[in-house]
Amino acid sequence: MLFGKKSVGLKTVDFDHLPQHIAIIMDGNGRWAKRRHIPRSGGHAAGAETFRNIATYAKEIGLRYLTVYAFSTENWKRPKDEVDAIMRLLHNYLEEALRDMEKNQIHMAFFGDLTPLDPELRALCEKVESTSRKYVQCNVHICLNYGGRDEIMHAARSFAADCTAGKKRPEELTEALFDSYLYTKGVPDPDLIIRPSGEQRLSNFLLWQAAYAEFYFTDVCWPDFKKEHLLNAIRAYQLRQRRFGGT
Ligand code: IPE
Ligand code: IPE
Ligand code: MG
Repeated sequence: MLFGKKSVGLKTVDFDHLPQHIAIIMDGNGRWAKRRHIPRSGGHAAGAETFRNIATYAKEIGLRYLTVYAFSTENWKRPKDEVDAIMRLLHNYLEEALRDMEKNQIHMAFFGDLTPLDPELRALCEKVESTSRKYVQCNVHICLNYGGRDEIMHAARSFAADCTAGKKRPEELTEALFDSYLYTKGVPDPDLIIRPSGEQRLSNFLLWQAAYAEFYFTDVCWPDFKKEHLLNAIRAYQLRQRRFGGT
């Protein structure tokens, strides 16, 4: 854990006031690979390596929550071999996470509808989630087959089902109660959303939770994203004034 202020180049990051929750749209693997004249799967492999490094670093600096967008509900539109390569990388990563859990001490969980995943991968997700639950200091969430609209619809459907079953009444619904039906239940809203690769859009990421998030965009593609880029984003965040609609 890092405390106090630390200079990064000419810039200073205040480690005593880190955002509580950082969310990252891990984008640009394909373009990174194209520039190197290698298959897109090579970009995803490099992106997985970046994720390992950034998750470890997040834990090191004392970040409480890190959420990453790994596979969207729309990413099934991609060629099957690319989807298979991403799922394989994820499978390898989770096996490794299971093996190194004691060393890493990170709680890992998933946001998204895991039902369409390969049953073996799904079981692995569940195992990683349940065995890492005791590591409460650092929580890394992987958005997998995740879509913000899908999440909101899923929540609305579950609430409606509870009303039909007589467990809830429509007039009881508050923002806090609705939160409890989301995949992100119990996790604070992201303070900072980072998107590398130059794109400046949410692409269906955390639509409900992003209401008052700060955004940080960089042209660097995800496989090239280093600790320094994370610190630059945190520093930019620390210079912002958040008003939440107040003065
Ligand atoms: C992000 O990189 C990874 C996933 C969406 C799974 P991309 O594969 O979208 O990379 P670009 O945007 O094509 O460069
Ligand atoms: C968003 O990136 C999803 C992930 C990073 C997992 P995309 O590459 O799928 O988004 P678009 O298509 O550029 O909006
Ligand atoms: Mg992309």
